[in-house]
Amino acid sequence: MVDRPLDADQGKIIDAGTVSHGDADGCRINTQGSMMNSEATRQPDVKGFFDTITGTVSYVVSDPDTRRAAIVDSVLDYDANAARTRTQSADAIVAYFKERHLVQEWHLETHAHADHLSAALYLKEKLGGRIAIGEKIAIVQETFRRILNLEPAFATNGSQFDHLFRDGETFRIGELKARVIHTPGHTPACLTYLIGDTAFVGDTLFMPDCGTGRCDFPGGDPRELYRSIRKLFALSAHTRLYVCHDYRPDGGAPLWQTTVAEEREKNVHVHDGVSEEEFVAMRHARDETLDLPVLILPALQINMRAGRFPAPEDNGVSYLKIPLNHL
Ligand SMILES: [Fe+2]
Repeated sequence: MVDRPLDADQGKIIDAGTVSHGDADGCRINTQGSMMNSEATRQPDVKGFFDTITGTVSYVVSDPDTRRAAIVDSVLDYDANAARTRTQSADAIVAYFKERHLVQEWHLETHAHADHLSAALYLKEKLGGRIAIGEKIAIVQETFRRILNLEPAFATNGSQFDHLFRDGETFRIGELKARVIHTPGHTPACLTYLIGDTAFVGDTLFMPDCGTGRCDFPGGDPRELYRSIRKLFALSAHTRLYVCHDYRPDGGAPLWQTTVAEEREKNVHVHDGVSEEEFVAMRHARDETLDLPVLILPALQINMRAGRFPAPEDNGVSYLKIPLNHL
């Protein structure tokens, strides 16, 4: 879900290169700066894939030792005029897996996105792995089942996903330790995935000059978002934060990696010193000025189904619904 409109071009994928937290001689540095050799301080390799149409950054996060990997917030390209999906962005991720001989374990969704369609199901079919999202997706499913008057068979218990994460749950990617932090506010189901010293924050925070995610969708709450951000700000100052979108205010190349320290010092909406009341007032005022994301209706209908299309009708075609005068 986006906080500002995009200046989209032709969907070129920008490859920012792999960010490894390893140093030149293979000894990694933990967040306290000491040499590491225990699994508790293993750090991931992170590769970002930027989709200029939606301003979304998808990530491949991998264990450099075991080559086990996860994909965070993948994008299924969507031509809204023709209602046609394409897999150019997802195929770039598949190629990266092949090139690096990675083994896929998880498709991690930070939330049910309203600005792009998820390629998790397509990528699961290509690479394997399990599709996961926060357990509160059930709230989002129930809300939009009502808004869209979906078919009675549409389940609102998250059963479309392979796994539903709860707050504080831990898991592994290879030998990397990962922990789930529930960070609601942008949506009720938003998660941050903390993997080693690296956090994938979804739309909870953007780059410091872009601020924070909007809170005006059903179930959004700026007060909750503020409190979620305080949870992230309590992480080690050196924690690397990877955001889900970037919309360059200056029109320059997109950026997507920052740190807790940088956000606490510079985030235009929520740097240290901004009170909860100030943040809530800012967020309400700003959200009133924002148009709905162009792809909110197709995106939610696909993403709530873990990337599946609605069941085909008797002519073999899947259809999406558009509620008139209802959003
Ligand atoms: Fe979002």
